[in-house]
Amino acid sequence: MQRIEGVSKLVGRERYVDDLDLGEHLWGATVRSPVPRGRVTDLRFSAEVDWSEFTIVVHTDVPGDNTVFLLEADQPVLVAEEIRHIHEPIVLLAHPSRDAVRRAAKQVDVGVDPADPYFDFRAAPTAGQLQRGDDNVLKRLEINKGDVGAALAAAAHVVEGVYETGAQEHVYLETQGMVAWVEDGVVCIKGSMQCPYYVAKAAERALGLDREHLRVMHAPTGGGFGGKEEFPSIIAIHTALLAMKSGQTVKMIYERTEDMAATTKRHPSRVRHRTGLDGDGCLLAQDIEVILDGGAYQTLSPVVLSRAIIHAAGPYTCDNVRIVGKAMLTNSVPYGAFRGFGAPQSQFANERHMDVVAGRLSLDPVEFRRRNLIKDGDCTATGQVIDDGTDRVGVMELALARADYFDRRAEHRNFNAQHAYLRRGLGLATFFHGAGFTGAGEVHLASRVMVAGLPDGRVEVLTSSTEMGQGSRTVLTQIAAQRLGYAPVDIVIVDPDTHRVPDSGPTVASRTSMVVGRILDDACAALRQRLGDAELRGDALRAAIAAWHRENPGGRLSAEASYRPPPGVQWDEENYRGEAYGAFAWAAYVAEVEVDLRTYTVRCIGFRAVQEIGRVLNETLARGQIQGGVVQGIGWALLEECMLHEGAMVNNQLTNYVIPTSADVPPIDVIFLENPYEEGALGAKGIGELPLDGPAPALANAVADALGVEPNVIPMTPERMMDLIEGTATHD
Ligand code: MOS
Repeated sequence: MQRIEGVSKLVGRERYVDDLDLGEHLWGATVRSPVPRGRVTDLRFSAEVDWSEFTIVVHTDVPGDNTVFLLEADQPVLVAEEIRHIHEPIVLLAHPSRDAVRRAAKQVDVGVDPADPYFDFRAAPTAGQLQRGDDNVLKRLEINKGDVGAALAAAAHVVEGVYETGAQEHVYLETQGMVAWVEDGVVCIKGSMQCPYYVAKAAERALGLDREHLRVMHAPTGGGFGGKEEFPSIIAIHTALLAMKSGQTVKMIYERTEDMAATTKRHPSRVRHRTGLDGDGCLLAQDIEVILDGGAYQTLSPVVLSRAIIHAAGPYTCDNVRIVGKAMLTNSVPYGAFRGFGAPQSQFANERHMDVVAGRLSLDPVEFRRRNLIKDGDCTATGQVIDDGTDRVGVMELALARADYFDRRAEHRNFNAQHAYLRRGLGLATFFHGAGFTGAGEVHLASRVMVAGLPDGRVEVLTSSTEMGQGSRTVLTQIAAQRLGYAPVDIVIVDPDTHRVPDSGPTVASRTSMVVGRILDDACAALRQRLGDAELRGDALRAAIAAWHRENPGGRLSAEASYRPPPGVQWDEENYRGEAYGAFAWAAYVAEVEVDLRTYTVRCIGFRAVQEIGRVLNETLARGQIQGGVVQGIGWALLEECMLHEGAMVNNQLTNYVIPTSADVPPIDVIFLENPYEEGALGAKGIGELPLDGPAPALANAVADALGVEPNVIPMTPERMMDLIEGTATHD
């Protein structure tokens, strides 16, 4: 089935938030803090501007609690006094002219009494930099299995390593944008977002409104990648405040430079490994410390940290595992959700480390993985027994076969011995990704999906799951059509709107197809049940729906289903033990690189991606998800470096934050292995985030293979490669 909105996107007919026809309206702009830490002393509005033309909002105009609520009420809607990061919002302005409001925003001077900021999350804060407890730790989590100390003491080999990853910008095609207006006493917000109910929850609290007086609507969204998971709540509340104060419709669209400087990024990380092995190269102990830079407010850092540590030991069997995770509060622009949600960081470290370990033991990395990959009956670091029937060694062997791994390696040896300045190498990563909310998270979400039979016999699907380019609209249509025996054109997906659709949970965590799709499946069954015949399909169902409407004129024929936990899933949140996820997807990626010793550039010249993701529901979309994720992973590993100054990105333009183009990536060979997961919709497991976990370690391992160096820090920019090759280490 083709992507439903594919043609309208292709020909430019899709109307994103900046394209909506609003009639007369105001433009919003944000005045931001000039320093990373301090106290606001005064606001000076320049005499050169006629401020009577402007709507001006400051923290005292926030009618509810001055907080953007998600997990903890720490982040203000607008700074009252204390500044915790540069670019923090302080004043909002609105005016009929987009140019005038942008010029005016530069005419507000924020007076500040500065304080000592804390930036390097890897070093302990000084006394003057303390802003939370006695260590600036935002969140600490720990996993314990067996006895790591004893196992390390008894190990034949102990191998240590330290691995670091940088921030990453989402670079969604469409920047953050929102419109707001007040209609019959209801504050309406519409814009680019992944999670309408997250926006509603935060806006209700900040605006002091109940659910009836606040309506949040999703507009076609040009990419999210996690960047529109929690951040849109901020711009939504800002836009609504300006609309409430002015009584007019207000539109706020971030320019690219503002978006890149002031919004969330992927958490930078440092991971330490200490690994004990027996004489046969089998894992005896994994001692792991994961530290993330959380930035200036909590956002989703505790949850990102959770997923990072749960994936930190990788898809390997080891009886003794200790993983300590810490997210640090710094004075950087807050880090937030980004596709993979911590797992790419911790698995970069682990997969790179596994090659380092194999090297120390003089074992081939492939052979090392054959000995240690989880087999059915083994358990993960949290004690979750894996028994899904997937052949994880087989997944790896297929990737190696597709890459012609052993022959190509031999060819590269010859090539490298002869070529004056090019060096080629191959690298492997074997990894996993758990889909859906962690542990009892899905139970707490209690997601709901509704379907309704329309008078003409078509069926409407009502969920809060948002289309952001990933294809959920198409896949949900397919699931309903298949279950009801309908043609896809007879399924109508309702645009997410908190006054129309139930809360199906957020569109995050690779959960939409697998989890929401399954609830939709149940809702379809409930609709047939309501018509009194569980077997109704196709034309018979259409006729029954039409007949119901003739008998109940003006009535609504709807049915609902809510989340049912898969049997046997037990999670101990206190001790981080048990079934962390209903299912894991498994993958093996092989990357081939060519390093130019004249320019120190690393090019990816070949890529194989083999994954077992349950049933593939739409092969074109699934392939697109894998290819897109791989390209994003190649960018993170090789090209994308957020240059941070005073805790904010200063290369905040696409001219000097370099993302991959089609010229930078080889054809990506995508292979799916199918092992249906019974609790997922039509057998599907999650897929969206998995492809971010593998490319970076596969590429680093390939660079190590090509050059015999240990590239343990990404991105592997030419500057870093020069240091590594020349052994100078001048580039931090
Ligand atoms: Mo996300 S990173 O939108 O789960």
